[in-house]
Amino acid sequence: MGVRSRRLGVLWAAGVAAILMVGAALGAGREAALQADAPAQLEEQAAPKLIALTFDDGPRRSTTTALLDGLAQRGVHATFFLIGAQIEGNEDLICRMDAEGHQIGIHTYDHVSLTGLNRADFSAQVDRTREVLRQLLGHDNFLLRPPYGATDASVELWAECPIVLWSVDPEDWRDKDTAREVEHILQEARDGSIVLLHDIYPASVEAALQVVDALHAQGYLFCTVEELFAERSISLEAGQIYRQAYP
Ligand code: NI
Repeated sequence: MGVRSRRLGVLWAAGVAAILMVGAALGAGREAALQADAPAQLEEQAAPKLIALTFDDGPRRSTTTALLDGLAQRGVHATFFLIGAQIEGNEDLICRMDAEGHQIGIHTYDHVSLTGLNRADFSAQVDRTREVLRQLLGHDNFLLRPPYGATDASVELWAECPIVLWSVDPEDWRDKDTAREVEHILQEARDGSIVLLHDIYPASVEAALQVVDALHAQGYLFCTVEELFAERSISLEAGQIYRQAYP
């Protein structure tokens, strides 16, 4: 699935949300609809609240498969920052992510911190993973998430793609406690948030799906990182760091 059709999917979902919100606004009172500034109000209300769920450290067959199944049931697209060394043997999972509209990014080949590396060692982590993904998926348009969020001037110079960090981190590696993670995310999440989770833990997969259901009920829509920034008319630049897309 191409970038264009993914973006259209978000726009379609946003359109449905807009129709629902316009309907609710009209039902709220005929007077409001008759006011001169009503169209502006309706336009403002129609802007969808967006969240990008991101998953690091995968793929892991058992948990990533469960997550993809749950996201597919809910019609949700997410972003996966993959470890290069875990791609071999999981090619079908990565092709499934791509085919189902998820975005794929690089999380180094061996999950090492990228700061302080020389150019050759950096390339062995980032460029090597990009090449493995390019051979698998036929393009090399991949975002980078450095392990531990560790960046420096060399990482930014050599990335050759946008660097995506996060704004909501429940530290799901700490206690693998689904209820705590869900509560943390629901408290911190707002329009434009990028949420960090790891699809290698069953508790995180469960938390992600509970968060989707809870925030869907609050009118949020879920999208990939690329879709999130496109909807906010922010163009992602190589070597720049992005943490959120608040309106
Ligand atoms: Ni990681």
